[in-house]
Amino acid sequence: MQLITRRLILRDFVPEDWPAVLAYQRDPRYLRFYPWTDRTEAEAQEFVGRFLAWQQERPRRRFQLAITLPQDGAAGPLIGNCGLRRKPPSNYPAAGVTGDIAEGDLAADIGYELNPDYWGQGYATEAARAMVNFGFRELGLQRIDSWCIADNTASARVLERLGFRQEGRLRRNEYFKGRYWDTLLYGLLREEWET
Ligand SMILES: CC(C)(COP(=O)(O)OP(=O)(O)OC[C@H]1O[C@@H](n2cnc3c(N)ncnc32)[C@H](O)[C@@H]1OP(=O)(O)O)[C@@H](O)C(=O)NCCC(=O)NCCS
Repeated sequence: MQLITRRLILRDFVPEDWPAVLAYQRDPRYLRFYPWTDRTEAEAQEFVGRFLAWQQERPRRRFQLAITLPQDGAAGPLIGNCGLRRKPPSNYPAAGVTGDIAEGDLAADIGYELNPDYWGQGYATEAARAMVNFGFRELGLQRIDSWCIADNTASARVLERLGFRQEGRLRRNEYFKGRYWDTLLYGLLREEWET
């Protein structure tokens, strides 16, 4: 699978991607809002391995794509990833199941991360916008949501720029690095995306 935007090519992961992922996941700027203090080779391989496994799902429910900069018209260096993960049908249990893609199967969450060397240039917004459009257009989703650490203003801004509304604040919802963190829940409905 591939999504092309003005400045980016989002493509499926390949096994050889893990060193590029590890390189930025070890960066202290990246690690700030995660419980981890460092990342290992094994963890980066496992991280990429999960996304490779999702490619085998039929029907496919989870799409985590590598964000790359185009080079000579093809996907070039990997600078991050962005993904849309459809939720289990039980999210809307009363809607009923009418086939593989059930009526009650129309919610997903979105996540993204970028190599800190490429922050602040609108790349995350551009990648996430392509993924949101894919979710509503191709998957027929009714709802996309996401959560982030409340202090992670860059992540919250990406969602707000795409029209997501803040739906909740979970106070002291996480504890890591010696302190509590609030988390924010954001949601975007199909009709809000259409307007
Ligand atoms: C969140 C993240 C993907 C944003 O990437 P990005 O490409 O820099 O985002 P954009 O350039 O599209 O900018 C989005 C907004 O965040 C702002 N922003 C970017 N970097 C920022 C920073 N370090 N501090 C505060 N705001 C920042 C931008 O100015 C922009 O806001 P604006 O609309 O008010 O101008 C990136 O910071 C990242 O990878 N963080 C680590 C992983 C992570 O936290 N992922 C999200 C988990 S929920």
